[in-house]
Amino acid sequence: MTYSRITGTGGYLPDKILTNHDLEKIVDTSDQWIRERTGISKRHIAVDGQNTVDLAEGAARRALEAAGRDAQDIDLIIVATTTPDRVFPSTACLLQKRLDRHGCAAFDIQAVCTGFVYALSVADKFIKTGAAKCALVVGAETLSRVLDWTDRGTCVLFGDGAGAVIVEASDEPGILSTHLHADGAYESLLMVSGGISQGYDSLKDGNGYVTMKGNEVFKVAVNTLGRIVDETLEANNMQKSDIDWLIPHQANIRIIQATAKKLKMSMDHVVVTVDEHGNTSGASVPLALDVAVRDGRIKRGETLLMEAFGGGFTWGSILLKF
Ligand code: ACO
Repeated sequence: MTYSRITGTGGYLPDKILTNHDLEKIVDTSDQWIRERTGISKRHIAVDGQNTVDLAEGAARRALEAAGRDAQDIDLIIVATTTPDRVFPSTACLLQKRLDRHGCAAFDIQAVCTGFVYALSVADKFIKTGAAKCALVVGAETLSRVLDWTDRGTCVLFGDGAGAVIVEASDEPGILSTHLHADGAYESLLMVSGGISQGYDSLKDGNGYVTMKGNEVFKVAVNTLGRIVDETLEANNMQKSDIDWLIPHQANIRIIQATAKKLKMSMDHVVVTVDEHGNTSGASVPLALDVAVRDGRIKRGETLLMEAFGGGFTWGSILLKF
């Protein structure tokens, strides 16, 4: 049987840091409120001229280096992003050009904060069917560009960044199962209401920015992530105690703690970056993975559960042997 194995990880964060204290000067908020309600203390923000593809390239090059691969080895590029540089070409094509890799399939996936889980799941199918052997999968976002910096309910939550993995065909177990879901009935709870098809004017008057009914999103997120943990364990005939590491989407420390509690997992086995990165949407899971691989916490052969929840609503999980 052919498996998809992660052979290298990479992350990239813009140098510019925005602390909670910096935000106190922009909107009516406090460091204490943000830390208590979300667990966030700072986030990285892309500077003018620094776009999603720049962050994606940084993460991709580090993942290639970690895997001991050259860009010419890649036969599939998928970028998960909700904040592409252009309407078209896709960010994946822009990244392909940067890497000087010509001819292989390259496309974007848009599933907001679940984007990387969707993208890695698609790459897994390509590899399992023999359509690809060495895929570059990136989650990259400049969410700061779709934030209303006068709305304290949203602007304190997000940050910019990118994470990437190289996934290769292998006889050894890697990805064990992937689980993807969506329910568009919830579109109004979390969205950017304007868009290209409605005409450029639809992006004016605040309609080009994230709006969120945070409290309602919170409740659905906690319940949904609890259910997907059960679904994933059942599909693999595994017990909660079989999971070595939980790598959750980094939206809010309270949502992460609720999922860890559901797994009866000590927070020592949960990778948390929300304090330092904020919510980087599609980049948060691969960034968290990269941090814990590089600092030596996650080791080869361990069992990892990745999960995410985001706008759409979309949600999903991946269980894998690292
Ligand atoms: N600073 C100070 N006060 C604030 C701030 C702020 N930044 N933001 C809101 N408040 C106030 C509100 O106005 C409200 O005041 P009131 O009681 O006088 O009306 C009070 O704080 C409580 O507001 P709530 O919205 O009820 O606060 P809550 O505890 O729910 O926390 C939060 C808000 C952090 C947004 C939380 O609901 C959350 O994390 N939601 C889920 C976010 C998420 O998971 N999103 C999905 C992924 S994102 C994606 O897909 C793009």
